[in-house]
Amino acid sequence: MKKLKVGLIGAGFMGKAHVVGYSNMPKFFWPAPAVPVLDTVCDIVPSIASDAKDRFGFEKSCTDWHDIINDPAIDVVSVCTPNDSHAEIAIAALKAGKHVICEKPIANTLENAQAMAEAAANAQKGQTLINMCAYQYRRVPALVMAKKLIDEGSIGKILNIRATYLQSWSADPSSPLSWRFQKKVAGAGTLGDIATHVIDITQYLAGDIQEVVSFLDTYIKERPVQEGGVDLLGTVKLSADAKKEVVDVDDEASFLIRLASGAHGSIEATRNAWGRNNFITVELHGTEGSILFNYERLNELQVCFAKDPDDRRGFKTIYTGPAHFYGEVTWNIPGMNIGYGELKTIETYEFVKAVATGVQPSTTFAEGFKVAKVCDAVARSADSGKWEKV
Ligand SMILES: NC(=O)c1ccc[n+]([C@@H]2O[C@H](COP(=O)([O-])OP(=O)(O)OC[C@H]3O[C@@H](n4cnc5c(N)ncnc54)[C@H](O)[C@@H]3O)[C@@H](O)[C@H]2O)c1
Repeated sequence: MKKLKVGLIGAGFMGKAHVVGYSNMPKFFWPAPAVPVLDTVCDIVPSIASDAKDRFGFEKSCTDWHDIINDPAIDVVSVCTPNDSHAEIAIAALKAGKHVICEKPIANTLENAQAMAEAAANAQKGQTLINMCAYQYRRVPALVMAKKLIDEGSIGKILNIRATYLQSWSADPSSPLSWRFQKKVAGAGTLGDIATHVIDITQYLAGDIQEVVSFLDTYIKERPVQEGGVDLLGTVKLSADAKKEVVDVDDEASFLIRLASGAHGSIEATRNAWGRNNFITVELHGTEGSILFNYERLNELQVCFAKDPDDRRGFKTIYTGPAHFYGEVTWNIPGMNIGYGELKTIETYEFVKAVATGVQPSTTFAEGFKVAKVCDAVARSADSGKWEKV
C-alpha cells in the first residue's frame, strides 16, 4: 500500500487534531487511499517540538519549518501555525512539490490569501499538487445530508439563511491575550477565527455571498498578555496585576448577507456568548421546507417539509449514523455518534484520497480565498457603514 510521509508544522491544538486525523484515518477508512507515516514534526518552541515527537509518534522533530520543506522524502505538509505564517510556509511547500493542507483562515491578509490561491493554481503545471484549506465543519455528516436535501430540491428554492458561531472561551476579560487577539498575527478576531467557518458553510449550502453590511466590535479592549507558545484558549486566567495590552481585533462580528441566488440572511460570530461553547448553527428556509443544524448536537439534522399534512408539519430530527455520509466506516451502529476527532479524520481522508487520486478536494486554497474576500467586504462595510460588494 502507498505510504505518504507527513511533515507537521505547528504542534499546538490543531497539530494534535491533524495527528488524530492521520493516525485514525486508516483505522476507519480501509483500504485507505494511502497510509500516512508521521515523519517530522516542527514547532518553533523546542520543548513543544520534542514533546510532540514522543507524544504524537513522529520519527523526528525540528524547530525550523524549512527542514521539512527541504526534505525530499516528505510528501505532504500540514500547516498548523498561527495565521501570519500560513502563506510563507504553504507557498514554499508547494514550490518544493509538496501536497499541502493548511489550517483556516487561509491567511492573515487578503493579499496573502490571494498569493496562496495563485501559488496553488501555478503549482499544477505538469503535476497535480493537492491544496486544502481546513474548513472541516462542512464535512459534518448532518451538513452533507443538508446539502443533499437542498440539491435534491427537498426544501425548494432557498429564501433565507441565518448562521451563527457563538463561543464563550474568551468572554472573561482575564483570559490571556494570545496570538488570536493580535492583528499582526491573526489578521482579524472572531471574523477570521470563527465567522469564516460559517461563511464557508453558508456558501457550501446556499451559494456565493455577493454583498454584506456589517458591525465589528471589540468589547474587551485589553487583556493580560500571554507570551508565545500555544494559545491557552481561556483555560488559564492570568492574575489581575499581569501586564495588559490592547486587543486590536474584533470579538464580535455580525452582518447581513445577500447571496448571488437572491436569498438573504445573516451571520453572527462572538466569543462573548456565555453558555454557548461551539454553537455553530445554520437555519435555512426554502419554498418547500426548512433545515436547522446545531454543532452542539452534531449528529442531528432538523428538517421540516411543507408537503407534510397541516396537522403533522413541524421539525423532525434525522439522527445521522451508518445510513449517512461516512457513517458506515466510522461507527456502524446507530447512535454511536461522532465528534471533533472523527470530523478531522474525515477531512484527512478527503485530503489523502485527493493526493492518491490526483483530484482536488473541497475546500481548496481558491475556496479559502473566496471566504477571505467575504471577510474583506465585512471589514470594509464595518468601516464605511454601507453595503459592500464581495
Ligand atoms: N479548523 C479548526 O477548527 C481550527 C481550530 C483551531 C485553530 N485553527 C487554526 O489552526 C492554526 C493554529 O491554531 P492552534 O489553535 O493550533 O494554535 P496553537 O496556539 O494551539 O498552536 C500553534 C503552534 O504553532 C507554533 N508556531 C508558531 N509559529 C511557528 C512557526 N513559525 N514555525 C513552527 N511552529 C510555530 C506555536 O509554538 C504553537 O505550538 C490557526 O491558523 C488557527 O486559526 C483551526
